[in-house]
Amino acid sequence: MTDRYGRSITYMRMSVTELCNLRCRYCMPEDGISKKCHEDMLTEDEMIMAVRAAAQLGVTKLRITGGEPLVKKNILNICGRAAAVDGISEVCITTNGTLLPELAVPLKEAGVSRVNISLDTLSADKYRYISRRGELEDAINGIRAALGAGFEKVKINTVLIGGFNDDEIRPLAELTLRYPVDLRFIELMPMYDSGDFGKEAFIPYTVVLDKLPELVPDAPDGGVAKLYRLPGALGDIGLISPVSAHFCAECNRIRLTADGKLKPCLHSGDEYSIKGLDYDGMVKEMETAIYSKPSWHGELDAVNRSRAGRNMNQIGG
Ligand code: 5AD
Ligand code: SF4
Repeated sequence: MTDRYGRSITYMRMSVTELCNLRCRYCMPEDGISKKCHEDMLTEDEMIMAVRAAAQLGVTKLRITGGEPLVKKNILNICGRAAAVDGISEVCITTNGTLLPELAVPLKEAGVSRVNISLDTLSADKYRYISRRGELEDAINGIRAALGAGFEKVKINTVLIGGFNDDEIRPLAELTLRYPVDLRFIELMPMYDSGDFGKEAFIPYTVVLDKLPELVPDAPDGGVAKLYRLPGALGDIGLISPVSAHFCAECNRIRLTADGKLKPCLHSGDEYSIKGLDYDGMVKEMETAIYSKPSWHGELDAVNRSRAGRNMNQIGG
């Protein structure tokens, strides 16, 4: 379906849980989440119905997100059933990777074609700091497991944080020289309650270009990242700039939260509930949500924070 501004909506991001085994500082508060009533969350059947409704409206690509989707007990069922929906040609998953050693192969078998794994640092101490509780080794083992399971693409997501990992841009980028992975540097987004990041933390994607002058532009792949490659690399490097150069005019996505709210825009408080609706009701609400997608997300910086009204773990990125 096409929205009011002529954007064709072909991509849905579906968060299957707000829970996570980590507590990344830019994503959620230290004390975790007030666990919502079970009855308020979408059931597996409702999630699959929502995927069918989205497919009827022209969505072909589905990304499963969280929180951490792999902490969800029935994640393999959700992925398998979603991948079998008519019209869905691609099911991808975004994960912190720590549970991939057990789950990479079954996810692949369930029909997941690609995985994105979050990795903000190559230092064990810094990983513990930013995730408040994770172990770097678990994430690295997850990346290894994903490569071993034979996904079409393994992507690494790195949130760029001034004063934290801007000194690691080169070693992170050079992972693409040694492994068949793509890397995405994502500008830090100022979410509702996501920590104490000052002005200096919000660095623009151009810092990566300054640090890696040998980057060669790569052909665009239709996504929102500006693509580059290190000479001789096995994977590309993408720069994603929601803050310094927004890409709202090319936005083809709609989001569904684990508690059943359609979000036409990541940074807007507008939500359309599909919890408890039947199939026709879901299709109708989804049409309304897509039609009301705003033209852009408005100013974002350390002062003008996101108006999403939720933290990232409650949206799914
Ligand atoms: N800014 C930028 N990226 C974020 N993510 C989570 N919170 C933020 C934020 N405030 C990233 C995670 C993950 C993806 C789903 O979103 O690191 O890679
Ligand atoms: Fe968990 Fe991902 Fe949020 Fe980190 S960014 S707390 S891994 S959901």
